[in-house]
Amino acid sequence: MNGSNSVTCIAPINIALIKYWGKSNEDYNIPLNSSLSVTLNTNDLCTMSTIYVSDSFLKDEMWLNGKEQNVEKNTRTQRCVKEARRSSLKRCNGEDLNSPPKCHIVSRNNFPTAAGLASSASGYACLAKCLGTIYSSSIDLSVLARLGSGSACRSIYGGFVKWEKGSCGFGSDSKGVQVAPETHWPELKVMILVVSNKQKSVGSTEAMHRSVNTSELLKYRVENCVPKRLQMLENAITEKDFETFSLLTMKESNQLHSICQDTFPPISPPYMNAISHQIVNLVSLYNEKKIRAAYTFDAGPNAVLFTLEEYFDELLATILKYFPGEENDSEFINLSSSTVNSLHDKAVTIDGINVCAGALERIICTTPGPGAYVSPETVPLPDPTDVR
Ligand code: PMV
Repeated sequence: MNGSNSVTCIAPINIALIKYWGKSNEDYNIPLNSSLSVTLNTNDLCTMSTIYVSDSFLKDEMWLNGKEQNVEKNTRTQRCVKEARRSSLKRCNGEDLNSPPKCHIVSRNNFPTAAGLASSASGYACLAKCLGTIYSSSIDLSVLARLGSGSACRSIYGGFVKWEKGSCGFGSDSKGVQVAPETHWPELKVMILVVSNKQKSVGSTEAMHRSVNTSELLKYRVENCVPKRLQMLENAITEKDFETFSLLTMKESNQLHSICQDTFPPISPPYMNAISHQIVNLVSLYNEKKIRAAYTFDAGPNAVLFTLEEYFDELLATILKYFPGEENDSEFINLSSSTVNSLHDKAVTIDGINVCAGALERIICTTPGPGAYVSPETVPLPDPTDVR
């Protein structure tokens, strides 16, 4: 057991290049196939959580973005807390830890929930890092994060991360491994295009379940596409081969969304909407002469674009030309207005794409970043509870 009574951690989100879609074990979030992602910079997007433990706490409690969560009903959180304590007991053999103290967890995201960005990866990676640190648990933190949300196991590490599906029954070897650190490819830049969306689609757990049961394309993908693509992508990352990186990333995204349509009944409304498809068209036309950008989409309409530093200004200017934000919206993009103003003459014209003003909620420019880490900051408890 760690001596202090509170620990704060920060964890990033990650975006999959080779997608995880389908579980071989739903209780333990064990995937049908290995996957590979890029961890994004916590300066731009992260979850920060403080965990407090005290003998005076009567039960485990949790607050997310100021709102109290029902821990007892949240089986994923329960599973993480239980495993962290169980492996703490094993490690501290001999000490009287038969009833480890209860915890209070206060968590917040530095991005608006309304932005529609999946926060479960950063949320559960942060939870795992907090629990593992405060309870001095012996369980692998990536495995612990995976019990909360599959993709969270990749957010424990920075840079380029592979989630090995593993072969042990209970998933002790189903965890993230770093392929290359965040400093490996400094020219690689990321833009998140948050697409306005009011419609709620099917959650990823339910959708994966349906795909596993009904999609023949998913079976084909797992056996024939993923192993080859993983190997090719790992090589492309090692060699900083942007063209191969981009082609694989875009094909993977396309295949995920084809599987969602091959699922029966199909995932409806589809994750990608009309604006998402406009973005695909824009990137495809922009790439006609030379591959300079790649798109990928997860279980929602938001696009994540990759490009190289040398094309960054041109691509961003072009995105802003065709998808301008509302006037005077200072939060539309996380760059200074002078930087944005200096981009104007860099936009290229793309025939066949119409200007869609207001189609994007916001643009977040970022880079690959580090994995989950302990921070000296604190997220205070929402009320003046005594945490001695
Ligand atoms: O970890 P989950 O249950 O949120 O599933 C994530 C699934 C995708 O984001 C669509 C793909 C991936 O590999 O992250």
